[in-house]
Amino acid sequence: MLGSSQTIFSLSHSQGITFCQQSPDFIVPDKVPPCNLKTKSASISIVGMGYVGLCTAATFASRGIRTIGIDIDQARVEQIRRGKAPLHEPQLDSMLKNVVRRKLLYATSDISVAAHTDTTFLTVGTPSQPDGSIDLSYIKNATEDLGNALREKHDYHLVVVKSTVVPGSTNGTVKRFLEQSSRKVIGAELGLCANPEFLKEGTAINDALHPDKIVIGSNDKKSVNELAKLYRRFYGATLPPVILTSPEAAELVKYASNAFLATKVSFINTIANIAEKIPGVDVGTIAEAIGLDPRIGSLFLKAGPGYGGSCFHKDLQAIINYSQNKNYDPILLRATEETNEQQTSRVVGMAEKLLGSLPSKRIAVLGLAFKKDTDDIREAASIRLINQLKKKGARVIAYDPMAIPNTKKQFPDQIDYAENAQSALRGADCAIIMTEWDLIRKLKAKDFQEYMKTPNIVDARRIYDPEEFSLLNYVSIGLGPRQERNS
Ligand code: UDX
Repeated sequence: MLGSSQTIFSLSHSQGITFCQQSPDFIVPDKVPPCNLKTKSASISIVGMGYVGLCTAATFASRGIRTIGIDIDQARVEQIRRGKAPLHEPQLDSMLKNVVRRKLLYATSDISVAAHTDTTFLTVGTPSQPDGSIDLSYIKNATEDLGNALREKHDYHLVVVKSTVVPGSTNGTVKRFLEQSSRKVIGAELGLCANPEFLKEGTAINDALHPDKIVIGSNDKKSVNELAKLYRRFYGATLPPVILTSPEAAELVKYASNAFLATKVSFINTIANIAEKIPGVDVGTIAEAIGLDPRIGSLFLKAGPGYGGSCFHKDLQAIINYSQNKNYDPILLRATEETNEQQTSRVVGMAEKLLGSLPSKRIAVLGLAFKKDTDDIREAASIRLINQLKKKGARVIAYDPMAIPNTKKQFPDQIDYAENAQSALRGADCAIIMTEWDLIRKLKAKDFQEYMKTPNIVDARRIYDPEEFSLLNYVSIGLGPRQERNS
């Protein structure tokens, strides 16, 4: 057993991975992938057919690896069996159809079949508890059920924690539950790794096929070798850099990644709020200029109404809570979250300023999804915005090309829904742009002028050209007051 996160397992050249001397935790792929693929074909099972689990299952199966998708939700299982994705993700539907037809992916509610595969990935959800701390109950249940299923198995079985879990969970809770229920110990018969994912909604399939890295955390050499072997089989010559480290470090990589990205968004939103005070300044110019510095980088510098999605808020809360329990207050991460919360209130404030007051005003909210090309509204800024607008007495009519069915579950009759952007704008006192959908981006200044009662526009996604919209009552996040040009 190895104790330190700095300890690495060196894999031999014959396994297709080279040990990199300079950086002890860092392993880069060999130029030639000499791994022997003639051994018996791999089979995996994935517990939790949510977003990550299903995309992971489809991509593994698409590379010829026999995959079993396991979920307690029978309706979801039935849908997957029919080759139909129960969630929206580009490329997923066609990939799923293909692998189900070729019998490479099989879905079931029966976790005992996991014992017939070599490796089981846990991809169940890890939601927040009311105090922000991580809820590991799905992990505990899945691990216990899996352990029971593995009790009678004679061959080696590897368990991989892909769910986002706070440091110590894999080697603590998961190991304990797994060893107890399987009556085996990690080593000769049973393997355990932490292996976080970094999939983005909207590009998850591409991200899974072309990741920028693979992070494997384990204290057990055999576990690492088995998982590395599976990934070499999957990626062949395109194997990305593989970082081998302790389970705790692997778990923290995931939180550090999301916390950094969220902080980048809150940072640029802070600069946007400063830019709004300065005549003639546009935060887009600032982002473009600083992004050219390779130390900063140009991505994740789009100012907007605040981040949303299933990960950032949940993971920041979990790592803040985790740190505080370890007697460290991560003030930067708290500020990231607070800045994000305030950003939505600032959007409401912009509408209030344009309209004088909000009670009884008809406000068209264009875009509900937390980003474009998804129907996901989890933690979306639009939901925070609608709650605030309703509290202030505004009448809301919302439009989104995909996210209305999900939003209706949250606001069944508190707001109205429009069939298209134009009908949302009809008779509105103000329009607030909350998602950067191409379809909304295509609207012209004259559309707002033609349909709205008064063309008050709050562009929280900065998708319109301020010049074109200058004849309307147009305000945008990160855009300072217009500066009269000297002729
Ligand atoms: C994120 C991480 O990117 C991914 O690695 C992790 O596995 C899950 O969480 P996702 O939730 O799909 O992925 O969304 P992402 O594309 O990262 O966007 C998150 C939020 O930040 C969105 O609301 C988006 O609109 C916002 N954002 C992003 C900005 O406001 N500005 C930016 O420049 C980038």
